[in-house]
Amino acid sequence: MSFLSQEKVERKVGWLIAVTLITVSFGGLAEIVPLFFQDSTTKPIEGVKPYNALQLAGRDVYVREGCYNCHSQMVRPFRAETIRYGHYSVAGESVYDHPFQWGSKRTGPDLARQGGRNSDDWHYKHLMNPRSVVPESNMPAFAFLAQGKVDGAVIQDHMRALNKVGLHKYSEEEIANAPKEVEGKTEMDAVIAYLQGLGLALKK
Ligand code: HEC
Repeated sequence: MSFLSQEKVERKVGWLIAVTLITVSFGGLAEIVPLFFQDSTTKPIEGVKPYNALQLAGRDVYVREGCYNCHSQMVRPFRAETIRYGHYSVAGESVYDHPFQWGSKRTGPDLARQGGRNSDDWHYKHLMNPRSVVPESNMPAFAFLAQGKVDGAVIQDHMRALNKVGLHKYSEEEIANAPKEVEGKTEMDAVIAYLQGLGLALKK
């Protein structure tokens, strides 16, 4: 190793950076690569279902409106969290999420176990004007979602795209039925359907 002596590496900053990066990336690879092959991170846990057309549309609204900037979807395995939200999140719950919505910012509460926690009616009122149900809330109103129509053709494209990258392959029949499923639905209906499906598998 005379051409790469300690002295040379420590004196030439380019070499130092290169050798450091190579060394550090070994550690990263050893931690990350196995996750792509492990059942606990690649297989859905029992009860986790792929999103239906309406939920997918709602998920798009969630991403578009940046709900993740204020809400995480990741219950951490700490007592204070499991008492408040329920079972901590596991990787097998997120296998159908592209991209996942774990987030890291909690201006509002975690939404990973939101499904069934409030009624559809509550969500409607809350999204129209959060202050109408939670007087001290500083969440913005999303009343305009009640005007937005869900476009069936867009959801079909979305399903086809997910077929390329996702774990679940939507059948031609599911894709063909999507426009009927979302017909006449507003973005408000869609985001509520999405919220009501979150985290049910480990709800107990
Ligand atoms: C600026 C930050 C912010 C944004 C953006 C935001 N929220 Fe909130 N959200 C909050 C806060 C704060 C609360 C707690 C007070 C309340 O219930 O209104 C909350 C509460 C909630 C709750 C009730 C949770 C519970 O269990 O009590 C739901 C559901 C919710 N938000 C959904 C959404 C959705 C869907 C979006 C995007 C369309 C969104 N939020 C965007 C801040 C935000």
